[in-house]
Amino acid sequence: MEIIKDACENWGFFELINHGISHELMDTVERLTKEHYQKCMEQRFKELVATKGLEGVQTEVNDLDWESTFFLRHLPQSNISEIPDLQDEYRKVMKEFALRLEKLAEELLDLLCENLGLEKGYLKKAFHGSKGPNFGTKVSNYPPCPKPDLIKGLRAHTDAGGIILLFQDDKVSGLQLLKDDQWIDVPPMRHSIVINLGDQIEVITNGKYKSVMHRVIAQTNGNRMSIASFYNPGSDAVIYPAPTLVEKEADENNNLYPKFVFEDYMKLYAGLKFQAKEPRFEAMKAIESNVNVGPIATA
Ligand code: OGA
Ligand code: NI
Repeated sequence: MEIIKDACENWGFFELINHGISHELMDTVERLTKEHYQKCMEQRFKELVATKGLEGVQTEVNDLDWESTFFLRHLPQSNISEIPDLQDEYRKVMKEFALRLEKLAEELLDLLCENLGLEKGYLKKAFHGSKGPNFGTKVSNYPPCPKPDLIKGLRAHTDAGGIILLFQDDKVSGLQLLKDDQWIDVPPMRHSIVINLGDQIEVITNGKYKSVMHRVIAQTNGNRMSIASFYNPGSDAVIYPAPTLVEKEADENNNLYPKFVFEDYMKLYAGLKFQAKEPRFEAMKAIESNVNVGPIATA
C-alpha cells in the first residue's frame, strides 16, 4: 500500500506484476493482436505513410502520430461483435481479457480509496453515472519509424479518464513518462501491466494524485504492440473533488478543482489532448461558474 501510495503521489504511474491475470491469456492476446496487425492493419498503415509522404519528412510533424490503432468498447455496452475484420477467436479472447482488466481496475480503485482515506467503493461510485463506467481498449501498434525524432509514436499527453491499464510489448520499448521535466523510459517487462492515472483521478483527489504526461517514441527497428484499456467515468457522471480531500485553506485560495459532467470534459479534451491539462481544468471551472451565476439577464 505504501509503494502504491508513493507511486500515485509522485509518479502517476506504476507497474504491476502478480496482478492475477493469467500469463497464458496475455500470451494469447499478444499473439492474436500481432497476427491481426500483420493481416489487416500493416498494409493499410504503409499506404497511409506513402500517401502522406511521411518517410521523407525533414521537419517535425506535429499533427499526427506514427501509430496504427483500433478501438474496442466494453462498457456500458460491448461493440466487439461490430468491429470488422476480427477473427472469432480474437473477439472472444479480447472480451475475456477486458473482463479481467475491468475487475482489476475496480480492485485498484479500492486500493486507491484505502490510501486516500475514502470509503471503499467511493471511486467506483463516483464513476458510475446512470449507466456505469465507460470502459474501452485502444489496440495500437507502433511500426518501425525512419524518423522517430521528427514524428512521435504518440505525442505527449495526459489521459483524460480514470485509471488506465496498459499491456505493452514485452520486447520493443518506447513509452516514456515525464518526471521532474525529464522523460523516463517505462521499459518492457514481460506479463506486467502498467497502470497510470487520468485527469479525473486528479480532479476527484483535488490534486493529491496527478495525471502525468507520457508519450511514445517509435523505434527505428521493431514493431511495438500496446493495448491500453481505459476505465473511465460514465458519460453523465458528475466529477468533483471528494469533500474529505478538500483542505480549507486551499478552498479559500480558490485552488479547488472544477465540478463538471464527464462527457463535457471529453468534448473539450477531444480538441486539446496534446496540450497541458491545466487550461482544460480552467475551462471547466469557467463553465461551472457560469452555471453557478444563473441565467444571464437579457433585455
Ligand atoms: C494512450 C497511451 C501508450 C502506449 O493511448 O493514451 O498513452 O504505450 N498509450 O501506447
Ligand atoms: Ni495515454
